[in-house]
Amino acid sequence: MLKEKLLLKSLGGEITSPPPVWLMRQAGRYLPEYRSTRARAGDFLSLCYNPELAAEVTLQPIRRFGFDAAIIFADILLVPQALGVDLRFVEGEGPRLSTISSRNDLNNLKPIDEIDSRLSPIYDTVRLVKSKLPEDVALIGFAGAPWTVATYMIAGRGTSNQAPAHDLMKNNTFVFDLLIEKITTATIHYLRKQIEAGAEVIKLFDSWAGSLSGQDLINYSLKPLSKIVSALKQSYPDIPIIVFPRGAGEMYRGFAKKTSADAIAIDQTVPISFMKNLQVEACVQGNLDPTLMVSGGKKLVEETKKLRDQMSEGPYIFNLGHGITPDADPKNVEIMLNTLRS
Ligand code: CP3
Repeated sequence: MLKEKLLLKSLGGEITSPPPVWLMRQAGRYLPEYRSTRARAGDFLSLCYNPELAAEVTLQPIRRFGFDAAIIFADILLVPQALGVDLRFVEGEGPRLSTISSRNDLNNLKPIDEIDSRLSPIYDTVRLVKSKLPEDVALIGFAGAPWTVATYMIAGRGTSNQAPAHDLMKNNTFVFDLLIEKITTATIHYLRKQIEAGAEVIKLFDSWAGSLSGQDLINYSLKPLSKIVSALKQSYPDIPIIVFPRGAGEMYRGFAKKTSADAIAIDQTVPISFMKNLQVEACVQGNLDPTLMVSGGKKLVEETKKLRDQMSEGPYIFNLGHGITPDADPKNVEIMLNTLRS
């Protein structure tokens, strides 16, 4: 008989004790076994496109910690690459991409029906992980949200304030809107394929939503996310979706409802009292400060208990407010898990 998956229960609106737990970037450089597999692959992108090794690193944190969910090992920037953008990761610096600034650049992007020639290894990873996953662990597929992906495609790199994307939005709204539309369409296609390959939950990362305000947040975070959620729900009504408009602050309120997402992920700047209030509209995920995975100690135990206890009256998924960092200590992950599950 199939064991029940805790993550799916919470996403379905059930209150569970303890709550399900997984961590953003749970497969990553803080784990020695990840560093060793990545070295075998050669570099980060080769690892993403190698289904055997990508499945291996996806499963490493499940074996070590017994998380309630695995998230497929890939990157949000694989979609731009599949659209024809040049992408590389510079050690110690981050991603570098060829940039989009004109109608001509847009016309040079590949049509949607060609992106699978690049993305099909990711679907293979999903199938492989699914076949090896313990039966009580849920499999999460993901993509970047159109705005966040666009910020990298326009600037050609990560930026602290997303200024190049804001400039294009203001100075060439026509091209900017077409780019958002193109990414939206590609993302819907990519996520459908992940679901068909076996993803049981989808998460959308709008990591730079916090730099949008007012009508821009509505037009470029809320609307594209709603479009993606509604397209996926139309084909796969039973696949729960988590949205993460990181840094949305006050605008987290109503976000899950307006996008029709099943859960809202919250960053560490939001107080627990505010997070609690969001449990009436959807399941809430978050928001332990990732730096506690580095510093550990009494504060880690206290903050873990505080979240567990104060969020226990509604559907809740324990997670960090952002990705776990390379300098995190795996021992602190264990301390957090023991505290949460005791
Ligand atoms: O969470 C997981 O374990 C699944 C895999 C995953 C990665 N990236 C692997 C990764 C996921 C879900 C992402 C999402 C992602 N990628 C986001 C959104 C979430 C967020 O963090 O805000 C963004 C903005 C990216 C783009 C990206 N990828 C950047 C800016 C960088 C470089 C910064 C860094 O940490 O080095 C990456 C690289 C990356 N993606 C790594 C991993 C494990 C590190 C690569 C390495 O091994 O060197």
